[in-house]
Amino acid sequence: MTDSCSSHVVNTRPNPAPCRPQDRGKFEILQKDGSARIGRLHTNHGMLNTPMLLPVVNPNIRTIEPREMWEKYRVDGLITNSYVIWKHDDLSKSALENGVHELINFPGVIVTDSGTFQSYVYGDVEVGVEEIINFQRDIGVDIGTMLDVFGRPEMSREEIESAVEITADRAPISLDLAGDDLLLNGPIQGGLHDDLRALAGKLMGEVNSTNGGFTIHPIGGIVPLMENQRYKDLFRILLSAKSTLPPDRPIHLFGCGHPLLFPMSIALGVDIFDSAAYALFARGNRLLTPTGTVRLDEITEWPCNSSELFNWTPEEVRSLDSKEREKVLARHNLEVTQSELARCRESIRNGKIWQLAEERSHSSAQLREAFLWVLDQLEDPDDGPVGVSSLRMISSTNPVRKGGENLVEDIDDRPHILHFKSLLALRWRIPGSWWNGSLSDPKRIIIIEGACPPWRDSSLHTVVSLLEEIPESIIFISTPIGLIPYSLEDVSPWSHIDGSDEIWDSPLDEDDILDELIEFDLSDIPFIRVTPGPVSEVEERRIGSIYDWIDRCSIVDKLSVLNGLSPSLGCKLTSGMTSRKSKTRRMVNVYSDGSHIFSPRLNDGGISLTLNGAKIINELSPGKPIHFGVDYDGDELDHPGIAKVMIVDDAIPFVGQGKNVMQGYVLGADPHLIPGQPCLVVDSNGELVAHGIPMTTAREMAFLTKGIAVRVRDGALKNKNN
Ligand code: GUN
Repeated sequence: MTDSCSSHVVNTRPNPAPCRPQDRGKFEILQKDGSARIGRLHTNHGMLNTPMLLPVVNPNIRTIEPREMWEKYRVDGLITNSYVIWKHDDLSKSALENGVHELINFPGVIVTDSGTFQSYVYGDVEVGVEEIINFQRDIGVDIGTMLDVFGRPEMSREEIESAVEITADRAPISLDLAGDDLLLNGPIQGGLHDDLRALAGKLMGEVNSTNGGFTIHPIGGIVPLMENQRYKDLFRILLSAKSTLPPDRPIHLFGCGHPLLFPMSIALGVDIFDSAAYALFARGNRLLTPTGTVRLDEITEWPCNSSELFNWTPEEVRSLDSKEREKVLARHNLEVTQSELARCRESIRNGKIWQLAEERSHSSAQLREAFLWVLDQLEDPDDGPVGVSSLRMISSTNPVRKGGENLVEDIDDRPHILHFKSLLALRWRIPGSWWNGSLSDPKRIIIIEGACPPWRDSSLHTVVSLLEEIPESIIFISTPIGLIPYSLEDVSPWSHIDGSDEIWDSPLDEDDILDELIEFDLSDIPFIRVTPGPVSEVEERRIGSIYDWIDRCSIVDKLSVLNGLSPSLGCKLTSGMTSRKSKTRRMVNVYSDGSHIFSPRLNDGGISLTLNGAKIINELSPGKPIHFGVDYDGDELDHPGIAKVMIVDDAIPFVGQGKNVMQGYVLGADPHLIPGQPCLVVDSNGELVAHGIPMTTAREMAFLTKGIAVRVRDGALKNKNN
């Protein structure tokens, strides 16, 4: 078999369109899953669709032609080294005459590094801070890099402090020289010191010139850590730097490109990777796989396939001459890299990036150690920069999501589960009144166990008879991931945990139940454990009021736990509520005085507002968020009300008619806003303009200037003024 067969490139991918001048350098967040984000960065040579990898291209050695990367592997951008081009007279001359895109023969985004890495490998470099910026600008680079000072892990604290300081001092000069045409990377140094990484993030994030600040923040000085598989240090550095970096800029892990590290890094908020691993490993006769690296001389069959390897057997590849073998392996490595990134992006879209990171953590002892360390940070965030990022990650994760989840060892510590549990502990309250109108204290707690979801089928009949017997009963369901109030029985993933039948037959021990009841502040009330019997016929007429009360509790509790409404407001909204039910007897529409106010979300157990519902809530809880940049000096409330987004006057006519709220048009947003959970859109007087689903956190809204901030479900000003 010849190389020409596999390297044949069909020229089908058109050159990229330049972005609109006003969008150049802007980063847009399209979708989020906790800290992970699908984004796009706009440049003169098209978009970087993130999370993505910039393959490293050495202008002197092209294992895979950059044009082939563009055409065949759909690589949007690559990284090469401006210092290497600058140092070689012929490369430098050609780049200055014809531009770097022609030199490299690549139509997409070209990012360049500055020579800092060479200074780490070889000692000093001859190029100056200003010279290297001027050169990158003059050869037409899309995103260049300033000359930062590489902070090695073994350096003293003083040396690292100096690396951070010198890098920050060079930043404004570099940004000024880059001018309008060259976007710049602002690397974050800081060695192994959390506080110095956070300081670097703040200093580099805040630098501004007449042309704006940095476009991307690469995390630097981490290659020696990755070489020694010090992944815990890597993630610690990432979380520390992220605590202060502006959320509207992509984060790049400098020199990281092994697919094994993608899911976890992305779950923690990395947008861009770069690496020569695809070529270097190929040169060493090694194959990349999503779970590690494999030596060509040790295999009989391919452990991980690619369109490239389908053409060959391992034996055939071994018998190729070294150049050809290198190309075959490099193509495979690039393909695996690209497909693992696609898998990560799809996992973000499906709300499953954490599960992917969890799965991959079992592929390497060092990665598993790092993953478990991250779980510790999430469970018990500290006061430092790592704790800040960990808390932000939990609170920005939508606590409910559609689809099932396998019951595995780490399920309890998934960020959405931790978020839901903390909301439950903070916001859930016992019912204000019981189905018979009684206002007395609860008399008992009932723990439903040994029953599997859907609990409305397996347990409702038992719940109803227990409530009939003693109305003042608080009902909980025992699930393999803890107790949940019966009113939240269809909240996913609780209602969709996948596992053998046995998982529903393993009751919690007494102490565990008590521990959980302490979380709910209910440990003083006696509890009994009940396993529902077979479903019996029940007399609807006699107990209709119990069903109605259970339905009402479900709406009040969901509004309170997921959306921050106080239970008393929830009670007001639902007094006299009626509902329309599906064939499976689930509420699909909720009415108040005949007006449709909510629709329970059947796929994840949350609540959707209607315009009427949004109007009533805004009337009953008027107010508006404070402006971005102004500190809130009131008390932290358990029930801060449904989250609101306040928009600029110019946007009101559009949003009021149902158009989306765009980033950059937001004046303020409540900090408890959760991407994926409903919000109200108000004007600066607090009047309702629309309601919808926020796409990003409030903090991101304060920074972003491109993309959708709130996907509007309905405008409140329709038919007004037109
Ligand atoms: N490549 C890998 N690490 C680094 C770094 O810290 N700085 C720069 N500029 N490039 C790198």
